[in-house]
Amino acid sequence: MNDTTTVDTTKSGSDQDWFKDAVIYELHLRAFADSNGDGLGDLVGLRHRLDYLADLGITAIWLLPFYPSPQRDNGYDIADYRTVNPEYGSTQDFQELLDAAHERGIRVITELVINHTSDQHPWFERARRAPKGSPERDFYVWTDDPEDYSDARIIFQDFETSNWTWDPVAGQYFWHRFYSHQPDLNFDNPAVEAAVLDVLDFWLGMGVDGLRLDAVPYLYEREGTTCENLPETHAALKRMRAHMDSKYENRMLLAEANQWPEESAAYFGDGDECHMNFHFPVMPRLFMSVQMENRTPIIDIMEQTPEPPEGCQWATFLRNHDELTLEMVTEEERDLMLRAYARDDEMRINLGIRRRLAPLLGNDRRKIELLNALLFSLPGTPVVYYGDEIGMGDNVYLGDRDGVRTPMQWSADRNAGFSTSNPHRLYLPLITEQEYHYESINVETQSENPASLLSWMRQLIALRNRHTVLGRGAIEFHEPENPHVLAFTRTMPDETGAGQAPMLCVANLSRLAQHVELDLTDHMGATPVEVFGQNRFAPVGELPYQLTLAPYGFFWFSLENRREQTGRTFRARSRRSHGARPR
Ligand code: GLC
Ligand code: CA
Repeated sequence: MNDTTTVDTTKSGSDQDWFKDAVIYELHLRAFADSNGDGLGDLVGLRHRLDYLADLGITAIWLLPFYPSPQRDNGYDIADYRTVNPEYGSTQDFQELLDAAHERGIRVITELVINHTSDQHPWFERARRAPKGSPERDFYVWTDDPEDYSDARIIFQDFETSNWTWDPVAGQYFWHRFYSHQPDLNFDNPAVEAAVLDVLDFWLGMGVDGLRLDAVPYLYEREGTTCENLPETHAALKRMRAHMDSKYENRMLLAEANQWPEESAAYFGDGDECHMNFHFPVMPRLFMSVQMENRTPIIDIMEQTPEPPEGCQWATFLRNHDELTLEMVTEEERDLMLRAYARDDEMRINLGIRRRLAPLLGNDRRKIELLNALLFSLPGTPVVYYGDEIGMGDNVYLGDRDGVRTPMQWSADRNAGFSTSNPHRLYLPLITEQEYHYESINVETQSENPASLLSWMRQLIALRNRHTVLGRGAIEFHEPENPHVLAFTRTMPDETGAGQAPMLCVANLSRLAQHVELDLTDHMGATPVEVFGQNRFAPVGELPYQLTLAPYGFFWFSLENRREQTGRTFRARSRRSHGARPR
C-alpha cells in the first residue's frame, strides 16, 4: 500500500485497522543518519532517508525516545516529555518528519514512557523537595520501609539489587522497576494520570499515529502482589484509550508487556485497551525451533496464545534494541538458548542475549531468511529492527545494550555514510569486525545486488504487503509426520478480492533437506502458486500433497481458485491440552 497511498490523518472509519497490515521498522534517531556532522543521528537525517524506507516497503516507523534525557538508558530516562532533545533537532523538525513520512504513506509510532521518568525530570526534583504526603511528593512512589512490595521481581538484575533506592534529599526511599535513576511515577495520584494524558494529547495532536507504551505492566503497586498486571493498571489503560478515542481517529496504542500470552493478551482488554501488543514469548521459540530443528516450541506457544479481540493484533519481532529476552521461557529452555546463542559471557545481559540477528544465526543467510519468513507469515504485525535488513553485526564489548545500537551502515564511505564527523566523535563506534565490516555490509552495496539480503527483504516485505491474508487471516497448523517441518495455512474469513486466497506456508526447520506429506483435502482442487517466483505447482488432489524442502527452505503458496472457506481456525482445532504453563 505504501507506494500509492498517503496517510490521511483526517480520514475516519475505514483506516482504523491500518496496523493489521503494517510492516513496522524500529529505529533510533541517533543511530540512523546524522545530517549536521556532530556524530549523532537526527530528525533531518532520518527525513532524508525516508525514501530508503519507502523503497524497502515498510509502512510504519517506530521511533525510540527522542526527548531531553541524561541518556543513561538510551533515552528511556526522560527529563521532559513535551519537546525534542535539541541534539536531534526541534519540534518543528519533528513535525516536518511526520509530514514527510505521511506523504509517503508511512505512519509514525513514538514512545509514551509513563512508568518512570529520569531522576532529572522537574517532577522528581520537585517531589523530593516537597513535604512528605503532599501531591507534589506523591508524583512518585515513596516509602520509609524498603521491605514494601517485596514480591516484585528485579528486572535489571545485572545492575540493581533492589526496587527501592534511598534519596537523601527526600529522606525516603523511592520505587523504581528499572534503573535507580528512573523513579516510577505514582498512578495512584490522579494528577499523574492527568499529566500523562496531556503528554498523549501533545504528540497525538501533532499527528503521531501510534504510541508504544513502554513497560506498561508496572504502572501500579499493591502489597502482596508481584506488582505486575494489576487490575488498577488495566483500568487506567481503559481510561487512556477512552480519552484517545474521544479525541482522535485511526490512532494506535502498542503495549510493551513482557509477559506470558494470557497476561499479555489482557492488555487488549475487551478491545478497549491497547490495539497492539508485543508477543514476547513467541520470539525465543522461533530461535528454539530452528536450534532444535523441531516445530513443537512454535506450535505450543501459538496454542497458548489467545485470539486478540476485534480491532486488535499482536506485534511480533525477532530482535529489537534490547537484549533478546529470555524471561518468558522455562529455565531449561533458557539454558538451551544461552548455550546455543550466547556462548561467551559478553553476549549475555540480565536474563537475555545482547546480539543482533545475523550474528545470532552465525551469519547463515538461509537461517536469516527462514526466521524472517516465519516472522512475516505467522499471525501478528512484523517489526523489523534497523540494520537487520542488511544483516548488520554487533559489538558485544560495548556496555549495556549498546552493541546492537551502533550506527546504520549506509555505504563503504567514511563513517559508513552515517555521518561526516570525525570518526572519534561518533556516538558509538562502527562495526569493523571482518565478517560484518561496514565496507561490505551496507545499504549501497546491497542495493546494487539483486541477490543481497536487502533485495530479498524488499521482496519479502512486498509480498507481505500484497497478501493481506498474512496480516489478517486465521491460522491453522498442519500436523505432518515429519517433525522438522512447520506447516500452516492462513485463511481470510471472506475470500474475495486479490490477495485474499489462503496462504499455505511450509518451513523446513532443519539443516538437512526434508520431505513432507501434507493433508490438504480442505483445499482440494486449488493450485498452489509459489509467491516468490509466481510458479504454479501441481494442483491439490485426493492424495497427500508431497513437497521436498531444501535445508532451512520454505515455501509460501497462494492457494488459488478456491472460494470455499475452511471455517476452521487454530483455536477451534487446538484441542491438545497444554497442562500447566511452564514458568
Ligand atoms: C523498556 C525498554 C528498554 C528500557 C526499559 C526501561 O523495556 O525497551 O530499553 O531500558 O523499558 O525504560
Ligand atoms: Ca546530528
